[in-house]
This record gives sequence, structure tokens and C-alpha cells, in this order.
Amino acid sequence: MSTPQGVCGSVWALGAVGALTLAGGLAAARGSRGFALPSAAKGEHAERDAHFVGEVLAALRAIHWNAWDSHWQAKGANSYGDHLLFERIYTQTVPHIDGLAEKMVGSWGDASVDAIAPSTQKLLAEWAKTSDRVKRATEAEHELHRRIFAARKVLEQDNALTMGLDDFLMGVANDHETFIYLLQQRAKGGSASRRTSRRRTGNDNPAYQWYVLAVPTGHVRPRIESGWESKEDAKGRLAEARTETLWTKLALLARRSVVSAGLDPRDDAHWLTAADVATRVA
Ligand SMILES: [Fe+2]
Repeated sequence: MSTPQGVCGSVWALGAVGALTLAGGLAAARGSRGFALPSAAKGEHAERDAHFVGEVLAALRAIHWNAWDSHWQAKGANSYGDHLLFERIYTQTVPHIDGLAEKMVGSWGDASVDAIAPSTQKLLAEWAKTSDRVKRATEAEHELHRRIFAARKVLEQDNALTMGLDDFLMGVANDHETFIYLLQQRAKGGSASRRTSRRRTGNDNPAYQWYVLAVPTGHVRPRIESGWESKEDAKGRLAEARTETLWTKLALLARRSVVSAGLDPRDDAHWLTAADVATRVA
């Protein structure tokens, strides 16, 4: 039961001492958390294991689809911030989809990735019932975490959770926890906007302490590209923006410096709009 497939023969072929050493090594390789060797993926529960990992892949593909849709359709006071947030979600989900699908094909064959389409469609239909796109994306992220949790549990029970797959799933969970945090911050900002609409306008959030400024290609004056509570997040966005060809200049400034540069974050006219970007891209 606990011996990964394909290993028994080698164990019996060795002498007693060698067998004990190998068995000890395998136990250590599985570790206290029950890791399996890669060959174990094709064990007796392969179909069930492929199904549970496929449910994770289906959620990732649905998240990607949903976030890209939301990126195009962002509107309202926070439209530009939402446009960027959803872009971050769908672009950063691509390597998750690709990496997991490759692992699945390697472990359970081509058919294992074909099988996920109905589950992806079912999720999208279910999430479409939530019209608020930030809430919808948050629900989607929670569903992904439930599926990762279930897949790890089942694979661990089946002795099919390899260290590589576990590490990969943990990395995906970690990245998507960041998305949950960002979506929650966005949701809080949204309600604060309604409560304090006299003091707060449009794109700005009183909690923002850091801003990325950009000069769109063909323009002269800088505009506020995005606002952030933490300097780390702002630096992350700045690094990402540097790879985009839309900007001639970019800068990271604290709130005070933005104001001394003659820009008012509370004034939507000082922010880039999704339309500005779309025009430049076209
Ligand atoms: Fe876009």
C-alpha cells in the first residue's frame, strides 16, 4: 500500500541490508507529510487523482477567462484600477495553468487535460450569477483554494502527492492568496468610497500612500497610473509597467511628492483612464 509502484521489484532484488536502506530512504523521501515519488502518480487511484488535480486546472482556466473578461469590462469610478488588477490576475494565472497542465499530461496523459472543459464552463456559469466583478473574482479565488486543498488531501491519501506537485500547488495557492488580498482591499475601497463620497472622489483611495506615475507614449504630461497602500506593491507594479511599451517615463512617488509635482490624486482628471490606454495600444 505504501510502496510506490515499480519499486517492489528492486527492493526484493537487493540483499536484506540493501533493502532496509532503500526502504528507509523511500520513507524519508515520502517524509512525514506523505510525499510520493513521481512514479506513484500512475498508481491504483490514478483516475481519482487526475480528476482532483483537473478540478484545480479547471478553476485556474475559469479564473483566467473571468479575469480577462472583467479587465475589458471594468467601468465606474475604479475602472482603471480594476482594469489593472484583473490584468494582473489573468497574466499571472497563465504560468499556473501551463505548469499544472504539463504536470497532468506527464502524470496522467493527454486525456486528463481534455476532461476539464465541462468543469471550467460550469464554474463560469455559476460565477456569472454574481454581477459585482470584484465579488465574483473573490468567490472564484476561494473556490480555487478549496480545490487545491481537496486535491492535496486526496493525493496525499493515495500516496500520489509528489514533492514537485505539492510545491507547485503551494506556489499557486500563495500567488492567489495575494489576489484575494488585493480584491479584498479593492472591495473595502469601494465601500469607503460610498461612505465618504464627499471627501473622496473616483480613482483615489485615502489609504494610498504610493503612486506610479506614467507618461503615455506621445503625451508630455505625467498622469497617475495606479495607487497603492504598500510600497512593495507599488514597486511590483512599477517593475511590471517597465515591461510595457505604453509609457515613455515611469516614476514611483509618495503621496506628498505627487502633490508637490502638481498632481492631485483626488482629481480623476489627473489619472490615466482605460480609454487613454486603449487608444495608445490601438
Ligand atoms: Fe488589455
